[in-house]
Amino acid sequence: MNGTTAAQKPNELGFKTTYQQFLEKEGLPVIRAFHIEDIRDVELGPWNRLGGRGAYLNLEGTEGVNDCYIGEIPPGKSLNPQKKMFEELVFVISGHGATTVWRDGKKKQTFEWQEGSLFSPPLNTWHQHFNGQGDKPVRLLAMTNAPTVLNLFHNIDFVFNCDYPFTDRYNGEEDYFSGNTKSLSEHFRETNFIRDVRSFELIERKERGAGGKMTLLEMGNNVMSAHISQFPVGTYKKAHRHGAGAHVIILKGEGFSLTWPEGQEIKRYDWRAGSLLVPPERWFHQHFNVGNEPARYLALKPFSSRKFPGLRKQWGTSESVKQGGDQIEYDDEDPRVRKMFEEELARRGVKSGMDEVLRGIRAA
Ligand SMILES: [Fe+2]
Repeated sequence: MNGTTAAQKPNELGFKTTYQQFLEKEGLPVIRAFHIEDIRDVELGPWNRLGGRGAYLNLEGTEGVNDCYIGEIPPGKSLNPQKKMFEELVFVISGHGATTVWRDGKKKQTFEWQEGSLFSPPLNTWHQHFNGQGDKPVRLLAMTNAPTVLNLFHNIDFVFNCDYPFTDRYNGEEDYFSGNTKSLSEHFRETNFIRDVRSFELIERKERGAGGKMTLLEMGNNVMSAHISQFPVGTYKKAHRHGAGAHVIILKGEGFSLTWPEGQEIKRYDWRAGSLLVPPERWFHQHFNVGNEPARYLALKPFSSRKFPGLRKQWGTSESVKQGGDQIEYDDEDPRVRKMFEEELARRGVKSGMDEVLRGIRAA
């Protein structure tokens, strides 16, 4: 990990982005790297604004569109209340606790979460996170679109002190964080709270390869969205490409990802539960399971809601590049890819499941 806390330089006219000025005010460590080996090990610093400890992640593949922060709540304590005009998806890395959500002058509501929970404090609501344990810190990871929002309005005070209530997103509904799930289509689910993304039910999705399962998630009436994907032992997914900023958090399993800009050198990143990878815009990437259990990941994506579309191009991640899409079919991939995978499996004594996957595809 190439962490650095050094401030970024101003541009040729001497200006810094508003997001950069915000980071400098926050005073937390800022990790600038391609990927994070383990989000549980990221070093944090004291956080004056929120209390507790934290760090920002500005990974290369975000290309300045979105960011992540990791926040730690000390044992038995809470972070300070906050509201803001950017969206966030919060994933609980470790521990359990609760969050209270409210709007000025309105009733508060509190919901509990645990390791593996995923939720989104509705835009511009007050919210406060509490550690439910007296003996251990809680660690949260939040993917936000703060860089885009702060740079668009270039006014930090507006982003943190706007009064507009956005009742179309949240209007005090008592079951808002109950975990109720609504089906929008075969693969899309709408929910505002997932108790544990590691066991959330997934749906078979053959076109993305390798007998995989996947559920796409719309949460909090946001323009950001998420999906959870799982693929079997001894298999790998098809390569594909899309826009910047998809934060892929490995939940279970062991493997590696290859990523490359078209026609250029392939980079390999090994992963396990806790690893985080953000493939850059238009870079192909492909995920390989070389462990002894199904591999599962959570992807947090900045502008890919299908309920509120229009902020970015809709990529053809399930269609072949030969048909104008953004996925490479198994038959069209560089033969070195399969070879690298089979060699790694052989080294680990894991049986390949790819012959069966390819037979299934050809028979379909
Ligand atoms: Fe992807």
